[in-house]
Parts: sequence; C-alpha cells; structure tokens
Amino acid sequence: MKTILITGGAGFIGSHVVRLFVNQYSDYKIVNLDALTYAGNLENLKDIEDKPNYIFEKGDITDEAFIFNLFERYDFDGVIHLAAESHVDRSISNPLEFLKTNIFGTVILLNAAKESWKDNYEGKRFYHVSTDEVYGSVDDGGFFTEETSYDPQSPYSASKAGSDHFVRAYANTYGLPIVISNCSNNYGPNQFPEKLIPLFINNIRSNKPLPVYGKGENIRDWLYVIDHAIAIDLVYHKGKNKETYNIGGFNEWKNLDLIKVMCKVMDEKLGREKGTSEKLITYVKDRAGHDLRYAIDANKIMNELGWKPSLQFEEGISKTIDWYLENEEWLKNVTSGAYQQYYDEMYEKRD
Ligand code: NAD
Ligand code: DAU
Repeated sequence: MKTILITGGAGFIGSHVVRLFVNQYSDYKIVNLDALTYAGNLENLKDIEDKPNYIFEKGDITDEAFIFNLFERYDFDGVIHLAAESHVDRSISNPLEFLKTNIFGTVILLNAAKESWKDNYEGKRFYHVSTDEVYGSVDDGGFFTEETSYDPQSPYSASKAGSDHFVRAYANTYGLPIVISNCSNNYGPNQFPEKLIPLFINNIRSNKPLPVYGKGENIRDWLYVIDHAIAIDLVYHKGKNKETYNIGGFNEWKNLDLIKVMCKVMDEKLGREKGTSEKLITYVKDRAGHDLRYAIDANKIMNELGWKPSLQFEEGISKTIDWYLENEEWLKNVTSGAYQQYYDEMYEKRD
C-alpha cells in the first residue's frame, strides 16, 4: 500500500483532491495534513472522514520538527502539496505570512522529503500545486504557456513563484523527483466566501452589496474545481519528471460580465424579478497592483496527458450556485466561524 501526503486537504481545492484520491484509490493510504487556518474546514470532508484509507493530521508545514517527525512516522511515497495562503487581498495586507507558509513551509517539506527518501528516489514524487499568477498579467491577447517567464506582481504570486523556484532547485540540485502544475482560477463547492464567486453568491443571497474592484474589467480564466482535481490526479500519476503542466479551461470572463451572469442566474433560482441582483453591484477602490488578465494555454496537458475540462461554464456556475443555496448550513458555519470548532468536536474527542 502506498502512502501519499496531501497538504492543505481541508481547504477548497485540497478537499476535492483528498476526496478523489480516497474514493478512487483504496490501495493508497491518504494522509491529509492541514494547519486548519481560517481557510481550512474539515466539514468539507465529512463524507469521507471514516474511510479506512484516510487519516487527518493537524499540523503546520512551517513546524520543522513536526514535519520531519511526520515523514518518519509515515514513510511517504509521494507528496501532493497544496497547503498555502491563497488569497491575493490578504497577501497585500500581510505579505510575511505568505512568505512564511508558501516559501518557508514548502522548503521544509522539500527538506523532509529529501531526508526521508535519502537520495533513493525510485517511485517517489513531490508534486507542487501552483498558480498561473506566477506568470504575471497577459495584457496583449496572448496566453501563458509553460515557457512563459515568471513575472509575479502580488505578494501572493511572488510567494508562489518563490516556492516553484525552490521545488525546481531541489530537482536540479539534489535530483528530487518533482512535478509542478500552474492552474487558473478555480470555482465550485466548498470555496471560502472571500473569493469572488462564493462571496458574490453569498451576498446576492443575502441582498448585500457586490463590491466590484475598479471598473470590473479584469479578466480571469475559470475552471470547475473537480476538473482541477482530475488534472492533479493525472499529473501526479502520468506527468513527466521535472515537467510543468499548465491547467485551465480556455474560459475567460471579464469580471463584470461574469457577475452579471451570476446575478441573472440567481434571480431565476431565487424567484426574484429580473434585474434585482444587478442593483447590488457597487464599484469600489481597485485592488492594489490588480493584474488585468490571466489566460492559460492548456494544450500541453490536453495533448500529452489527455485531460480536458468536463464541464461547460454555464453548467458549472449553475451547479455551484445550487450547491451554495442547498448548503446554507455550511455557509452559515463558515460565516459565523462555527466551522472552526469541528476539529475539536470530531477529532480531539476521539484521541
Ligand atoms: P485554500 O486557502 O482554500 O486552502 C489552503 C489550505 O491550506 C487550508 O486548508 C489551510 O488551512 C491550509 N494551510 C494554510 N497554511 C498552512 C500551513 N502553514 N500548514 C498547513 N496547512 C496550511 O486554498 P485553495 O484555493 O484550495 O488553494 C490550494 C492550492 O492551490 C494553493 O497552493 C493555491 O496557491 C493553489 N491554487 C489555487 C487556485 C484557486 O483558484 N483557488 C488556483 C491555482 C492554484
Ligand atoms: O489565477 C489563480 C488564482 O486565482 C489563485 O492562485 C488564487 O489562489 C485565487 O485566489 C485566485 O486569485 P484572484 O485574485 O484572481 O481571485 P479572486 O476571487 O480574489 O478575484 C477574482 C477577480 O475578482 C479579481 O480580478 C479581483 C476581483 N474581485 C475579487 C473580490 C474578492 C472583485 O472585483 N471584488 C471582490 O470582492
């Protein structure tokens, strides 16, 4: 039986990756390591928490002693590293936290993997899950390919670029087997309502203003989170050593157009008069250093690994809105902070 460490598995994307691996690979033991920061929510994994091939470990990737001990205890065959500070706005107000978790924490994991595998890398793999934001903003109508130079603009993207560089440096310097993917904006169930789509769904639902940064002209390339999880599974199992794979849906939306679609769909679903939700749009001060456009060229993963998004955006956004409307309890617990007691209630009690 192989033992795989997934970091950040209580977060948005991580929880979908953990679920996919636990359900799909009964011959793997999946260890989910998460510090349960504000973004970690074990309620995301209620449906698989009792599966025999799933283990949750609460811990911080910046805690060197804890991480080295974890690698000794489990003797991991592979690492899928998603734990990170992930929100650009928070990185603008607290860059150091991003450096600490995203760079320092990643290097501790790399050291632990290197030490644990002791230069015998047969069958081992360290997979870093990264972002398209490392490439900066593509304002000229082109696309980010795997060859695009790094040009990060925010403290968040600088920290992710730094961690990508460290991962590649460990491959070049120590021969550590690695793979990296850089993905575009994800949306779907279980996303913390600080990011555009879940925040706006929640605000429309409760008739609160929709704070559009600047003129709403920035462009993002949206991918349904389960399609990202499927791509991660493929890259982990079939990606070539030391390669990078860009992941994206060829699905670009100007923020304002996307918001208007959400308003329209939610008016229909909530039985509100057409145009009601759009009245909530409120233009606010722009995000500092706001990247204008992200656009991923996903041809490499499509051609080499046979991946393609399974959901069209219209279906994905409708499913996502339904999920948030049907899971009021999840949203209520997240907005009230009650979700942070779940670990104490469910796990500490068992020990
Ligand atoms: P998230 O913020 O929802 O989840 C991050 C998880 O990491 C949380 O569960 C949190 O508790 C955990 N964590 C944070 N600091 C930690 C630490 N020091 N030690 C252990 N655990 C810690 O993030 P997400 O949106 O699911 O993103 C996951 C990964 O994917 C990140 O690396 C992010 O950079 C990358 N990514 C995200 C997107 C996106 O659109 N959300 C797109 C591309 C890449
Ligand atoms: O591209 C991948 C990245 O996508 C990931 O690496 C990040 O972890 C993830 O957070 C996301 O970053 P963005 O900054 O693009 O996502 P966010 O949802 O914060 O914002 C999307 C767009 O919407 C962006 O142009 C800013 C704008 N926005 C966002 C918020 C939260 C608003 O206009 N108003 C808002 O309130």
